[in-house]
Amino acid sequence: MKVLRAGFKQKLNPTVSKFVSSAKDDEALIDADIQGSLAHAKMLRSCGLIDDTTLENLIHGLKQVQKFYQDNGYKLDEELEDVHMNVEEKLKEFIGSHSDYLHTARSRNDQVALDLRLFVLQQAKVLNEVIDELKKQIVYCAEKNKDAVMTGYTHLQRAQPILLSHSMLAFYEMLKRDQDRLDDVLKRTMVSPLGGGALAGTSLPIDVNFTQKELGFNQVFANSLDAISDRDFVMDILYACTTIGVHLSQMAESLIIWMTKEFNFVKLPDSLTTASSLMPQKKNPDALELVRSKCGMTIGELVNVVTILKGLPQGYNRDLQDTKPGIRRVTETIKQAIEVMTLTFENLEVNEASLKEAVSDSNLYATDLLEVLVKKGVPFRQAHGMVSGLAKQTDNLSGYKLEEFQKVCDLFDESVYDCFEAEKSVTDKVSGGSTGIAQVHKALEAAKT
Ligand code: ARG
Repeated sequence: MKVLRAGFKQKLNPTVSKFVSSAKDDEALIDADIQGSLAHAKMLRSCGLIDDTTLENLIHGLKQVQKFYQDNGYKLDEELEDVHMNVEEKLKEFIGSHSDYLHTARSRNDQVALDLRLFVLQQAKVLNEVIDELKKQIVYCAEKNKDAVMTGYTHLQRAQPILLSHSMLAFYEMLKRDQDRLDDVLKRTMVSPLGGGALAGTSLPIDVNFTQKELGFNQVFANSLDAISDRDFVMDILYACTTIGVHLSQMAESLIIWMTKEFNFVKLPDSLTTASSLMPQKKNPDALELVRSKCGMTIGELVNVVTILKGLPQGYNRDLQDTKPGIRRVTETIKQAIEVMTLTFENLEVNEASLKEAVSDSNLYATDLLEVLVKKGVPFRQAHGMVSGLAKQTDNLSGYKLEEFQKVCDLFDESVYDCFEAEKSVTDKVSGGSTGIAQVHKALEAAKT
């Protein structure tokens, strides 16, 4: 460790130096750190804590530092402990002693809290944008196959006919809630911690609202001790990402199943599938399988951070450093997974013949049959009993003769055979939010706007 050793009698042990350094993980924070320093320097000037020349030098120097890291591909020196010490050292190299003023009324504790908040805000914004794109492709897929009817499942057993577009719009709804959760993250992350100092604030006349406004935060911290130690927002973003991950893995799993020969509902182009090194006939959905698996890491990182934070004593503790790497890993991975899903829905081919074949299974219409009886006044439980008796004894409910239907309930007439029809089944659904054609078309229109 090259810096902050004044007064120490020994050099930091190299093993320890390497162990405590967060420089590698901090490379994602370089821009945020410099942005924070620029705002801090301007605030110091506005409060009369530095003069014009110093400010000019600091601004000029920080821009040079930024350029330096852009050119070197955002690489930090591990021996310099973290991003803050790296930037400070570089600044000193470029502008000399004027750099010594920059850390006035600031600690790395409020600095790292700031950098992390800026990074989380940026990542949440990016995720929101890529989810928009995914939603668009899901709606496009729904629109393309607007009136195709498929088998809907419960317990992975054929349940009732549904519109394929209804299935797509269910995915759409999940993503809308995911965006809601990201907005929630933004709300609580939009608080500037700068000015909290090490933990107690400062006796110097700084203006915490200046930096808050300069950096575009909605609010400023209310309590310096809380400002430097709060990492709730890290749990928030990781939880929001975990929910996205869970949703993506569910979508991926459904598509993987639908792509099997057994289902054969959908196909993916060659560009999105992979080959087997041994079996020549194979076309595998590896990318979707990895979308499914990535969620495991996301959950792991969430649990990691929750565990780090649990039981920490009040104030800054170095443990907080380890809440950082997961954010980048998770947000970048989830972003990639969203992009893969976007490509998937954009290129998904629906096999209408297989869907038709699947919905020709007349047992799918048992519920429609039961509702025929309910509409004729038979109490629901009794109608359920009657149709269950019929359905449990056959794989082809529509194969019964009219007399056989009438033996179970004399209210059945010739029209009983109309219910075994996919289009009719989905047209007949009238309840709000149902798979009824009218409801789905309405939902689709809303989604398109
Ligand atoms: N690298 C540290 C972190 O990531 C920065 C803050 C260090 N503060 C301290 N008091 N040692 O949390």
